[in-house]
Amino acid sequence: MAVTAALADSQVLLRSPCPALNTLANHGLLPHSGKGITTEDILSAFAIGQNFAADTVSGAAAAALALCSSETGVNCTTWDLDMLDKPHAIEHDNSLSREDYNFGQDNNTVFSPRVWGQVLRIWRGAEIIDFKLANAARAERVAVANATDAPGWYVPAVAAGFHETAFYLSLFGDPVEGNARQDWVDIWFQQERMPFELGWTATQRDTITAAGLTAMVAKLQAA
Ligand code: HEM
Repeated sequence: MAVTAALADSQVLLRSPCPALNTLANHGLLPHSGKGITTEDILSAFAIGQNFAADTVSGAAAAALALCSSETGVNCTTWDLDMLDKPHAIEHDNSLSREDYNFGQDNNTVFSPRVWGQVLRIWRGAEIIDFKLANAARAERVAVANATDAPGWYVPAVAAGFHETAFYLSLFGDPVEGNARQDWVDIWFQQERMPFELGWTATQRDTITAAGLTAMVAKLQAA
């Protein structure tokens, strides 16, 4: 019995509130278990799997290590995906595809059809997500979270929302112009896998850099 329980436990896949990290773990570019992730794992997974420069993820990888250290009280050299679920740490409210932490489900690592439906309603079946549509979805989530979260819970995460929007527009569109394919974006958020069968490849566009993301955030803010 103990052996069975230990085996079952070792087979549990840990996942995070971040669709990008979950996708890389699902494809085995990060440890499939979601456990024991190093900064080197992050840099190589995002470079190989998604054509991201190291400067786009090194800050977030350091933040994940720091969160692990503060949660466990030891100096972490690796971390597990589910450690990112701590609300209002790196995780935040007004996500595009997750419930805010206090919204009944209390599991912000899991895709929410209810929340994603709010985004899809804004997009109205558009094939291409430009800056205006992406920004409208982001703003809708800010407005809904602000209006519906429990009193005193909601902490606006507007800057993170802009940055994460630039992330997915660059990943599934052009790193300068955005214009992401909606069908690719939808599969990635809903199923946490890369839409290879619909033609997506990591090398069809230029490498995504921190400077490029910053420039795109400025365009989103102006859209
Ligand atoms: C070590 C690197 C990374 C860490 C630690 C990390 C962590 C996180 C966390 C904790 C969230 C949850 C925020 C929330 O509550 O909504 C998140 C969301 C997100 N992340 Fe990452 N992330 C990393 C890299 C990336 C990269 C490279 C991309 C590029 C595609 C990305 C795309 C996103 C997007 C689009 C969201 C928003 C999800 C939503 O609003 O539903 N992340 N990330």
